[in-house]
Amino acid sequence: MKKDILTLIDLNKEDFECFFNRAFELKKRHKQGIVETSLAGKTLGLVFDKPSTRTRLSFETAMAQLGGTAIFIAASDTQMARNEPVKDTARALSRYLDGLAIRTFSQDLLAEFAKYSSISVINALTDLYHPCQVLSDLMTVIEFKKGYKGLKMVWVGDGNNVSHSWINAASVLGLNLVLACPQEYLPDRAILDAAIEKGSGSIEITSDPFAAAAHADVIYTDVWASMGKESESVLRKQVFKSFQVNQDLLKEASKEVIVMHCLPAHRGEEISEAVLEGPCSVIWEQAENKLHMHKAILEILISNRSMTNS
Ligand code: CP
Ligand code: NVA
Repeated sequence: MKKDILTLIDLNKEDFECFFNRAFELKKRHKQGIVETSLAGKTLGLVFDKPSTRTRLSFETAMAQLGGTAIFIAASDTQMARNEPVKDTARALSRYLDGLAIRTFSQDLLAEFAKYSSISVINALTDLYHPCQVLSDLMTVIEFKKGYKGLKMVWVGDGNNVSHSWINAASVLGLNLVLACPQEYLPDRAILDAAIEKGSGSIEITSDPFAAAAHADVIYTDVWASMGKESESVLRKQVFKSFQVNQDLLKEASKEVIVMHCLPAHRGEEISEAVLEGPCSVIWEQAENKLHMHKAILEILISNRSMTNS
């Protein structure tokens, strides 16, 4: 296991399994009312440059439930906003904290943080990736489908940060992933090529959401305009209008299809109200599992559970 979680392509299959196993164990123990103390005396810093509801609160709650402490600071309130170099900030924060979750725009900035930090740095979303989201999403898939092997997973919509983390996961775990995206908003070619070259999974791209959805076991969507792309919203609504996850699309899928969305959702855009609130939706379980997976991630990284190398 590496020191940091910056992207899922850096993990191996054993790392994924280690996170899944511990997350399921911690979820079970939480439901049984067992009080954890594995991170007593430890402190997680959260430095966020973009808004967050679930990721922030689930990481903060995760620390509390493991007996540790979380400290949130908006990046705009730090000296970085007054041009203190990242390498100086990273080294100073490493003297106070035991782990650092960062939500920011640039993956390079995150990587620089990790390079100069002696503590674990966790990607809590960048423009390029959202690895912890997809780790907890896979936990939800395993929960509902009793595993991930042999499933047809379909991404519908923007080739964005979350889709890139799905592509990485598909590469490492050997998933069957089909991404239906408009030609103008395909996933990053370099990320896709690297994942295909490195991995054993089947990763396909199409611009036909109905063909993609045929016999799907999992249909996943996300906003059409991610954070930082809001000025393109009007244009994107036009381009993406045939990429809505709605009841017509679900007719193509397996009868047992589950529908996933990382949230926040825009009803009537990437997903219809009927599907979001309907029987195929596992979206609230998916949101809950962020808590359990974040607990596993923090425990494993901060208390060095299962660390084999760095
Ligand atoms: N899914 C997710 O990352 O949600 P937030 O932006 O609310 O953290
Ligand atoms: N793709 C979305 C995910 C939000 C959790 C964004 O980056 O805004």
